[in-house]
Amino acid sequence: EGTMKIGPEGHLWIGGCDTVALARRFGTPLFVYDEAYLRARIRAFHDAFATTGLRYEVAYAAKAFCALAMCQLVQEEGCALDVVSGGELYTALAAGFPPERIHMHGNNKTMAEIEYGIESGIGAFVVDNFTELEMVEEAAHRLGRTVDVLLRVAPGVEAHTHEFISTGQQDSKFGFDRATGQARQAMARVRELNHLRCIGLHAHIGSQIFETEGFIAAIERMAEVYEEGVRMGLPLAVLNVGGGFGIRYTDEDDPLPIRQYVEAIAGAVKSAFTARGLAIPAVWVEPGRSIAGPAGITLYTVGTQKVIPGVRNYVAVDGGMTDNPRYALYGAKYEAVLANRAHEAADEVWTVAGKCCESGDILIRDARLAPPRPGDILAVFGTGAYNYAMISHYNRIPHAAVVFVRDGKTALVVERETWADVARFDRPLRYEAEGET
Ligand code: LLP
Repeated sequence: EGTMKIGPEGHLWIGGCDTVALARRFGTPLFVYDEAYLRARIRAFHDAFATTGLRYEVAYAAKAFCALAMCQLVQEEGCALDVVSGGELYTALAAGFPPERIHMHGNNKTMAEIEYGIESGIGAFVVDNFTELEMVEEAAHRLGRTVDVLLRVAPGVEAHTHEFISTGQQDSKFGFDRATGQARQAMARVRELNHLRCIGLHAHIGSQIFETEGFIAAIERMAEVYEEGVRMGLPLAVLNVGGGFGIRYTDEDDPLPIRQYVEAIAGAVKSAFTARGLAIPAVWVEPGRSIAGPAGITLYTVGTQKVIPGVRNYVAVDGGMTDNPRYALYGAKYEAVLANRAHEAADEVWTVAGKCCESGDILIRDARLAPPRPGDILAVFGTGAYNYAMISHYNRIPHAAVVFVRDGKTALVVERETWADVARFDRPLRYEAEGET
């Protein structure tokens, strides 16, 4: 996918760059993003929405991969931005992202995050629960501002995906429950709050979703809630249907083209709102994975092997669950190739392990590979979303670097950490009396 190809020397190329040369120059593990493909994924959303005639917003979900350069890129491509923390907001603002095009999620925003959002002039808060409703009102009052909010509703729709990334069902920590009337109560309450303007409703049913049924069901239920809100006199104008559009990690995955998700959403919104005699709202989506995921790969250097005759072949690389915890967390599957010998037949089966001290530190169970040798470069595909974003310092392993590639050019967008970086906030054990500075 994207600009990937195999060069005449048998190396894997991406963005006009030889991955073997990238690994040599920037070291491994290395995240490599195909910039043209990132932009193409975003344009697919815009192109699809353009044909629907709806007012819309494509808000990139920064949680999938948040870095200064990524915020710049998505802004250039006409996206709004969904942030979920002060840290993501800080990064976006540092990138020059227009605050009014940022909205903030989170089920436990701290008062400091709420104030930071208000003072920065972000476009909207997506309020998740009753506690937060009062907190945002209080902060807005104190800061002398009126704040636009969307209310997050749990529509009670089961998305067919991994339990940990399914969020629209009733038993979820996110959002005002629809079935028990919490959404209605929240709308009634927000109307009483003088510093909040409820401009819309939000629902996100889950992630890595392959069908449109869940979105359509959620939109029908949301239209019902929306109608109640309009009757109550709320200035509703936005329906945010979240993200969750699936991507292909392996041949087992069969995602729809972006256009089909958008068409289904647009069709469902038009019919549900028209049927209720409501004005068609602006439709916001929040894709994360479907933009960043397919455009990123990870390069590793192959190290040791352990062959257990009749049991399994293990080959270890110089990263692992630190840079990609998705197998450990969700049993996620990936495909890979030896990037320096990409033309060779992948006729052996090897389990790719990481270097962390933990048996579950696996990247790919039973991958089909050409016979790996120490020093080979392994490229794992589809690692652009929720990999770097979930990186950890387990075993005090420094964070990997991130490079963007385009037309044979490279841009290092996140530097590699050093061992010293990992320890830089450590202090020797030295007690002082409480209150001493
Ligand atoms: N909007 C909201 C409110 C969300 O909670 C999420 C994802 C998104 C948008 C973006 O969803 P996407 O388009 O990326 O599917 N760490 C997990 C994924 C967690 C997703 C959390 N919320 C993973 O690695 O699969």
